[in-house]
Amino acid sequence: MPRQPDPGSPGAGAKAAGTTPISDQWPGNPGGELPTHYPGGIGASPMWTVQCARCHQIATYHPTQWRCICGGPWEPPRPLPFDHRAIRPHRPGIWRYMGLWPFQRDPITMGEGWTPLIPLSAIDPRLWAKLDYVMPTGSYKDRGTVTGLNALREMGVDQVMDDSSGNAGASLAAYAARASLQATLFVPAHASPGKKAQMHAMGARLIEVPGPRAQATAALLQALETGGIYASHVYNPFVLLGLATAAWEIWEQLGRAPDAVITPLGHGMLFLGLFLGFEALQAAGYIDRLPRLYGVQAAACAPLAQAFTAGLEAPAPVEEGETIAEGVRIGAPPRGREILQAARLTGGAILTVQESEIQAAQDRLARQGLFVEPTGALAMAVWSQVLRETDRVMVLMLTGSGLKSLR
Ligand SMILES: Cc1ncc(COP(=O)(O)O)c(C=O)c1O
Ligand SMILES: [Zn+2]
Repeated sequence: MPRQPDPGSPGAGAKAAGTTPISDQWPGNPGGELPTHYPGGIGASPMWTVQCARCHQIATYHPTQWRCICGGPWEPPRPLPFDHRAIRPHRPGIWRYMGLWPFQRDPITMGEGWTPLIPLSAIDPRLWAKLDYVMPTGSYKDRGTVTGLNALREMGVDQVMDDSSGNAGASLAAYAARASLQATLFVPAHASPGKKAQMHAMGARLIEVPGPRAQATAALLQALETGGIYASHVYNPFVLLGLATAAWEIWEQLGRAPDAVITPLGHGMLFLGLFLGFEALQAAGYIDRLPRLYGVQAAACAPLAQAFTAGLEAPAPVEEGETIAEGVRIGAPPRGREILQAARLTGGAILTVQESEIQAAQDRLARQGLFVEPTGALAMAVWSQVLRETDRVMVLMLTGSGLKSLR
């Protein structure tokens, strides 16, 4: 019998020996509860411990070692812990789950998360939309940037670098500004002007790199040779902590797990975050099976969909074709192997859509009052296809605001 959510019930507020108190001034935290799951501070906390997703080596994360010596990406130890008694509903956004994390300092936050989950009953009674573009910087990225950056901040990092198609950079620029850290961002010169303006306005140092998206990564890696901290929204494992909350929120808001969740798929961080979140719920006995996870790629750049269909374990790199869904224009996703595994394990799939379908999905959502950018409309473009497979409750992740991509 799966346990039901009982948000806010007592049980996780007791002070554990050896913890540094989170400030009593934390907004909406009159009781001054402490995160009790990981007492002992940095290093002693099992969640600053990371594991290589490829060779499974366990290590204590150091900000300069942004990936394993084998080249594999780090991930948090799995399954992530989950216990409904740790939920603090009076805390803003994702910080309702703070009791499950090892943060020792008051985090930098802008109230990100706890985004609306609304029915799309005018389209289909089984369809729900998670408005993850309702975020401080207008994209789902804030959910993961905030935990990723706060973790680095606790490790003493005072300047950060990242490469981005736009939204991750805009998100990092905002949180770095809030934390008084200097951010240097490598972006493709072809990124949306609105996203570049957003980064610039918030004080980030912007380096525009001509050519495909991958060139921005290459330029960053070259710059990194002379120093700096790669606060990668793809490699930083603590980004996944925040992204897992998308699954927890959906479960709380629906009062159950959905049968399927559909998300745009580029580097697949949101996809993996959802997977880790539902995996945690299952491991803790709150749900008895994982929702099917569906990822959507633009047909013009679909390394993961191709590998999924071909039954491969890892994606082969592809040329980045032109697409209006600029956020998923990723030819060689570093976590590809793990994404394919997760899609298969849940009984989901990785699908592709044509440019005209992306445009139609964006228009259809807009007619429902939901103005998202083309990348943010990808889930909408495949819902009827997925419905044939599940015929049950499904959630579409709407990930980026339409205001981002105005040209
Ligand atoms: C609006 C939007 N949606 C979805 C994605 C894809 O996310 P991921 O790279 O985590 O798969 C991006 C990536 O930039 C994005 O900007
Ligand atoms: Zn490794």
